[in-house]
Order: sequence, then C-alpha cells, then structure tokens
Amino acid sequence: MEDRRNAPLAEVDPVVSRAIDNEVARQANGLELIASENFVSEAVLEAMGSVFTNKYAEGYPGKRYYGGCEFADVVEQAAIDRAKELFGADHANVQPHSGAQANMSVYLAAIKYGDRVLGMNLSHGGHLTHGHPLNFSGMSYEIADYGVSRETEQIDYDDLARRAEEHRPQLIVCGASAYPRTINFERITDIARSVGARVMADIAHIAGPVAAGLHPSPVPHADYVTTTTHKTLRGPRGGLILCREEHAAEVNKKVFPGVQGGPLVHIIAAKAVAFGEALREDFKEYQRQVLKNAKALAAELQSQGLRIVSGGTDNHLVLVDVFLGGKGITGKEAEKSLEAAGLTVNKNTIPFDQNKPFVTSGVRLGTPALTTRGMGEGEMRQVARLIAEIIHDPQSEEARAKVRREVAELAARFPLYPKRLKKPPEAEGVGAD
Ligand SMILES: Cc1ncc(COP(=O)(O)O)c(C=O)c1O
Repeated sequence: MEDRRNAPLAEVDPVVSRAIDNEVARQANGLELIASENFVSEAVLEAMGSVFTNKYAEGYPGKRYYGGCEFADVVEQAAIDRAKELFGADHANVQPHSGAQANMSVYLAAIKYGDRVLGMNLSHGGHLTHGHPLNFSGMSYEIADYGVSRETEQIDYDDLARRAEEHRPQLIVCGASAYPRTINFERITDIARSVGARVMADIAHIAGPVAAGLHPSPVPHADYVTTTTHKTLRGPRGGLILCREEHAAEVNKKVFPGVQGGPLVHIIAAKAVAFGEALREDFKEYQRQVLKNAKALAAELQSQGLRIVSGGTDNHLVLVDVFLGGKGITGKEAEKSLEAAGLTVNKNTIPFDQNKPFVTSGVRLGTPALTTRGMGEGEMRQVARLIAEIIHDPQSEEARAKVRREVAELAARFPLYPKRLKKPPEAEGVGAD
C-alpha cells in the first residue's frame, strides 16, 4: 500500500486544499466586518496545526487519565497561568471547546435543572445560550428575560432589578452578542445579590477590551465569567471559564467529565499562544484602536444618514438600523448586497424589531478584524461611506462595481496572510466565491 502520510494536502485531498486556498483569498481580498470574527497570528495557526491534535489528555495538568501527557501539561498549564494573569482571576479552565460549552458547564456548576434564570433577550443583544427556547438553556431552566429600554436602547437596570425581584432567579446571566454599550457588571451583581442569585458574565464579545483594561471587568464581581477565545481576544476558536477559587473544583468537574471528553490540546496550545500575545503591550494598543475605529465607523455611518442603535458605541461593535422604519432596506437585503460588493457583515435584529429574525432591520458591524489588518480611523470612514453607498442603492450595478474596486484597493494596501495567499488578489477576485 502506498504510504501517503508525508504527502502534501494538495496531493492527498485537492478538494479540501483548494477550499482552504480559496478561503485564504476570500479573507485577504474582502473586508471582514463581522463583529465576532478576527484574524489570528501565524503563531496561533501553527500551534493549532500541531501534533497535539493526536493526544488524548482527559483530566487536568498533573492529573490525567492517559500516559504521555507531560507536554500537554506544559501547554495547558501555560494557558491557565496566562489566562489568570490576563484577567486577574483566581481560576481558569481552558478546556471548553466553545463558548456554548463554557456556558453549559457553568449552568451545570451553578444551578440545578429546572431552576430559574434571568438572561438578556436575544433580540435585545443576548445570546442563544442565555435562555433561548431552542437552546439547552431554554430547555433545561425556567427562563425570564430582561432587555434594553425603548428610549435609550441601553440596558434598563431598574427594570432588570424589578424583574429579578419578581422572578427570584437562582442565576442572572449577563453579557451579549450584539450590545454596543458598556455593561455595568457591578450593578448587575448587586441586583443578583439582593435576590440571592449567582451571576454568570459572558464576555465572549468584549474579552479583548476587558483584558486590555478598556471595559470594566466582571471578574471582581461575577461568580463565573465565560468567554470565547476567538473574537476580540484573537485566539483560536474555543471557550474559557474564569471563577473564584471557591467555584474552581465544581467548574472543572462540570467541564470534564460533565460536558466534554478529551480536551483539544492543539487548541489549548494555541490559546496559550494567544493569551501570551494578549499580555503584551501592543495588544492593548490594538484594542484601543479597535474601539477608536468603531467610534469612527459609527460616526461616519450616522453622517451618511443611517441610524446607529443606541446612538453610538462604547466597544468594538456597531448596530446599524438599515430598515429605518420601512424607508430603508431589510438587514437580510443589506447583508446580501454588501457581500456582493466584498464587505462581509451579518444581518441582526435591532431592539423591538418589526422584522422577523431571519429578515431583521439591522446589520451588526465590528472592527476587530480590519484593525488587525492595520486599518485606522481614516479607513473606517472610507468603509462607512462604501457601506452607505450600497445600502442607499442596493440594486445599482454601478455602485457595486465602484465599491468592489475600492474594497480591492483597500484590501491590497493591508495584506493578510501573505505567505498563504496562493494567487495575486486580482486573479482571485473580491469576496466570496
Ligand atoms: C455572548 C456569546 N456567548 C457565547 C457564544 C457562543 O460561542 P461559540 O459559538 O463558540 O459556541 C457567542 C458566540 O457568538 C456569544 O456571542
């Protein structure tokens, strides 16, 4: 039998190899504005692609159910130590395969099936795992929700306190997927304490600014802090749980063996690399620029006649009302037209949306990915004008062609993964295949 173990991917599997090459080109040649995405470093990619993918390491450093774990222990301990240092936490569990599994592990550690949970409404910016009926959280617990006020489109903390008093939850979940404003974790924890509830703060979106000290940290307040590692934190796709020492053993037990089997050691190695990168001074500078860029993007979109939900942004994301009460277009149409012009965004509900979740009145934009490419406020204003041009005239072939040219020019000025890009940008075209 032919031994192909050392043959390159392009030979072994041209279908997958070609798809990877096309994805590199798609990422490099388009402009990525999805708020939950980012571009990891070559070092993070290298760790993810390492032979640690071969290793079973059930258990935790020093206490494994398998032999041969001495190097798995090195990377997991490094990831734990760096996560603790980065967020000032007593305890870190770096094994969750994803944000959803981090959250599931915390629910299992904090409360019992059937207990009451107060979480942020999905259409006001919350996440599926914060109590949506189609998610395990909504299926397993009695859910009540809170949201933003109609006037300010910001979290209504007085209303949250009233709902906590009324529903007497065992757990309050805070943090969001589409909320552009600072979250007052201290206030939410005070409310939780007043009704005897625990708090889980899910900082999946804002972990980068939190780590850089640019958003108030929930770590000193909340019982449990969960996050993804692949958004503003700019690490591999995965999850992380932080908590105080008193909850450490229970959290560890619920991640493994409660929810997961063997940890993804190659991903944990990449988390260690990413946390190491995030501890550096230049990461703080990067996060500062992410926030400045979001402000510049929001301000220019506003001056181009689009409505920004809550009137602006304090973080990395901007929620844009493109429907404008029926005078504009739907989020679905905006997402499609922008993608055809080389700008990747996602449609998103806005608070009190008149349109269905698959249609929506908004688009969610974020600056982490473009900032990683080195773009600044000048480029954000240009990108905002391109977005507005498409949204104001979504069917115009002329507008689309002009925007595509500018997108290609911008993308070429801020190269991405140059060593991996197999073809020059002009040969590959712009945007998705
Ligand atoms: C606030 C929040 N929590 C949890 C998650 C889930 O993360 P994952 O997709 O890794 O399961 C997300 C992802 O979008 C999120 O925005």
